[in-house]
Amino acid sequence: MSARPAVDPAAFRRAVGEFATGVTVVTVQHGDRIHGMTANSFTSVSLDPPLVLFCVGKSARMARLIEQVEGFAVNILSDRQMQVSRQFAGANKDDATRLVSLRRGPVAPLLSGSLAALSCRISAVHEGGDHWIVIGEVIAIHEPEQARTNGPLAFFRSRYCDLIVPPTPAEAADRWSNDEIRIYHEEWSAGDVSEPAERRDLPW
Ligand SMILES: Cc1cc2nc3c(=O)[nH]c(=O)nc-3n(C[C@H](O)[C@H](O)[C@H](O)COP(=O)(O)O)c2cc1C
Repeated sequence: MSARPAVDPAAFRRAVGEFATGVTVVTVQHGDRIHGMTANSFTSVSLDPPLVLFCVGKSARMARLIEQVEGFAVNILSDRQMQVSRQFAGANKDDATRLVSLRRGPVAPLLSGSLAALSCRISAVHEGGDHWIVIGEVIAIHEPEQARTNGPLAFFRSRYCDLIVPPTPAEAADRWSNDEIRIYHEEWSAGDVSEPAERRDLPW
């Protein structure tokens, strides 16, 4: 007899549903067979080495395929891809791969129109209750330029929702320059570059 405290499954679902996430489609290719599964359990794990994970239910078809492939791709969906998410979450998705545009990736196909995609080599699979926790080392990053102005597809309380107003092209360009500043700052903090002369004028 298990000594676990009784947790109401509905309350558990409700509580974890308060955690808003993005939405991904994880893709694999085994021989000629291409398979995708909508997943919001994706998260980054480590920067060095670059590791990510997603969890897959043990009864999912993806769980059986993961045992047979070397890697997978994580496609991060935009707010224009709600239908794509629905297709890859459906029980019958034989048509799904025909209805979306796929590009060849280093380990698995990439979904066109995604905000970004990560090609990963499986580095570990751990048991997590009724799911497998699949850890992948990122071996390639795909950042399509045209997706920069789209917003993310968000999932909250078991529903798709708008997370942010997509930035205008000018705001997107500005965000990029802020990223460059941040990277410079990180390098500077690590001692890779000399200290800026006028630190007070810098925006961070
Ligand atoms: C927004 C959303 C997120 C989901 N996240 C996951 C997940 O992280 N892991 C999982 O196993 N299933 C997840 N699912 C359910 C799967 O997408 C669904 O069960 C799918 O049909 C399983 O695919 P397969 O059996 O064809 O591999 C999610 C569904 C939705 C709508």
